[in-house]
Parts: sequence; C-alpha cells; structure tokens
Amino acid sequence: MTYRIASIPGDGIGVDVVAEARQVLDRAASLYGFSFEWTEFDWSCERYLAAGAMMPADGIEQLRPHDAIFLGAVGFPGVPDHVSLWGLLIPIRRAFRQYVNLRPTRLLPGVVSPLAGRTADDLDIVIVRENSEGEYSQIGGRQSVGLPEEFAVQQAVFTRLGVTRVIRYAFELARTRGGRVCSATKSNGIIHSMPFWDEIFAEIAAEHGDVESEQSHVDALAARMVMRPDTLDIVVGSNLFGDILSDISAAIVGGLGTAPAANLNPEREFPSMFEPVHGSAPDIAGKGIANPVAQILTGAMMLDHLGEPAAARAVEAAVDKVLTAGVRTPDLGGSATTSELGSAVRDAVESGNAPDSAGK
Ligand code: NAI
Ligand code: MG
Repeated sequence: MTYRIASIPGDGIGVDVVAEARQVLDRAASLYGFSFEWTEFDWSCERYLAAGAMMPADGIEQLRPHDAIFLGAVGFPGVPDHVSLWGLLIPIRRAFRQYVNLRPTRLLPGVVSPLAGRTADDLDIVIVRENSEGEYSQIGGRQSVGLPEEFAVQQAVFTRLGVTRVIRYAFELARTRGGRVCSATKSNGIIHSMPFWDEIFAEIAAEHGDVESEQSHVDALAARMVMRPDTLDIVVGSNLFGDILSDISAAIVGGLGTAPAANLNPEREFPSMFEPVHGSAPDIAGKGIANPVAQILTGAMMLDHLGEPAAARAVEAAVDKVLTAGVRTPDLGGSATTSELGSAVRDAVESGNAPDSAGK
C-alpha cells in the first residue's frame, strides 16, 4: 500500500520538524509494510513575499487527490498573521470540510508538568475544537476607517449542522475511550449563540445516555484545566474556545513542543490535514533546536487516520522511549538538537518496535 501525502512544511521551525517527522514515518512504513509517496509544496510566507500568495489559485485542486496533508506551520514576521492564516490554513480546513480539530494531550514519560505534583494519570485531555465556523468567520467589516468613529464588526456564525456534527464527534470519541465529555460554553455572557450551542449539546447528550457529560463556562474551565486537570477527559468547544483551551492543555503537559493535532474530515470525502498545535516559532527558527515531537506525534495521528494503527503505536512508543532515555530538546530542559531527537526516534522505531515485538 502506498499513501499519497501532500507535505507543506511552511515556515520557520515547520520546515525542520516536518523533515524529521517524515523520516520517522518512512521508517515506520517500511517496517510495517507500506510506503508514502510525498509531494512537497513550498507554500509559505516566503512564497507570499515572492509571488503575492501563500498558495497558487488552484492550490485546493492540487491537494485534493492526496490521501492526507502533512503540514508544519505557517506564519512569519513580515507577513501579517491574518494573511498567512486566511491564505492557506483556513481555506484548506473549509474546502475539505475538516470540521473537527482534534488535539489530544498527555504527559509524556520523562516530561515534568509545570503543575506541581501532577503525573501522567492526571493529565490526559482531548480537545475537540469546532474547526469550520464559529468565531473565525469572514462575516463582518470595518467602516469609517481612520476616523474617531471607526468601528469593526465581526460576526460569529453557529449553524445547527456545524454544532451538531462536532458535538456528536466528541460523544462518539468518548465512547471509544470510555470517557466523559465537557462542553465549553459561555451562555451567561453570549446570549444567542451559546444558549444555542448548549441546547444542541443537551440533545446530543440525550442520544448518548451511556456517556457522562457536563458543561462549563469557558473561563471557569480554563481555571479548572490548571487546578483540576484530572477531572477532565474530552472537552468540546467552539473554534475560539477550543483554540485557547488547547494551548492550556498543551502547556500543562510541558508545552507546545509535544502537542499534536489533526484537522479531520470524519466522513473522508476529502483529505484530512495533520499539523501540530504549535506555530512557526520565529524566536527559535533556524537554530536547530525545535522539538520535533509534536510533529512526529501528529504523524502518528495521520497513521491512525490512514488505517495503520500498529505503525502509529510504534511511533508513539518510540517517542516515549527516547524521552524516557533523556534525549530532550531545550524546551523540555535538555540539550538535544531537532535532528538528534528525530534520529533517536527513528532508531527507536527500528529497534524496539518491529511488528513481531510490538505490533499492536
Ligand atoms: P508558536 O507556537 O510558534 O510559539 C510559541 C512559543 O512556543 C515560542 O516561544 C516558541 O519558541 C515555542 N515553541 C513552539 N513550538 C515549539 C517547538 N516545536 N519546540 C520548541 N519550542 C516551541 O506561536 P506564536 O509565537 O504565537 O506564533 C508564531 C507564528 O506561527 C505566527 O506567525 C502565528 O500566526 C503562527 N502560527 C501558526 C500556526 C499554524 O500554522 N497552525 C499555529 C499557531 C501560530
Ligand atoms: Mg492556537
């Protein structure tokens, strides 16, 4: 089996971590009897500055035939963030109906949580973020630009279809892991869209009587994620709430360097896109010290989606083994480089996880 993957390294550290992760995935593939055909796209802020667009006009069409998209990060000083985001990531997420942004975080072995006394038993949270509508909408505008009466209007958009499908996804996911669902709301302050969200949440919860569920205002939930992360399992939230909460859930397990993510089209009508939570990290770009673990674990999520769970587990086990052995980048308190960590994970995939020893 050969999977056709569109690779978009993007900007900054995206380029370094994608290179490492691809090599890990190729190694896992050869051990588990499949292969990748990578097509690399140079879509980035560099391209924007040279050609005036993050991707070509037919970019979506070029991506369409692939089995998945593997993306690093986009965004770099010199190009406004809304240009890079709306010129590439958001169009792809919407054109391919990737309405679930799945962001699992767990405390990895050898990594110390910034929360005192918390262990891996306490920290295993999955954020299910709505990824196609909500607060990140194109509806709105600016008027009277430059005048004292200038104003900006930004409409949030919540549809029954959009809210229902992402909440349903969260409940179905809870069933697969015997988990609980907590909905992030703010229906005390946002009086139209959030009560609507809550009503739909209650409807879907009623359909899933076997799954424990609750809702919490997002501000209280942010505090709870820090104070009592052990009480949370799956958190479902709107585009904005999910975005913010997933940076917290990443921070409490040691930071953005280890947090993977996937933009999923669960119906598989279109390619899904796999990109870590972190951005292009301009502050450390070009230094060779970015942590490739988030991108590698994002690759494991892609393996799961492609139907290669044994290879996915082998990659995760290799990451655990290498971190346990103390090979860590500076963000985790170590001194390893991006490529040292990447090659250690490759070796661990090879040595510890051949199909007959850990092929589950
Ligand atoms: P960021 O995630 O790039 O960096 C935040 C902090 O975390 C920095 O101190 C950075 O050094 C550190 N960090 C992130 N990933 C790391 C890794 N793998 N290893 C070690 N340290 C890591 O977020 P920031 O600074 O807000 O954004 C930088 C650029 O990235 C902006 O242009 C932003 O728009 C873009 N961005 C793109 C995303 C994407 O492509 N999905 C997501 C988030 C931001
Ligand atoms: Mg974010």
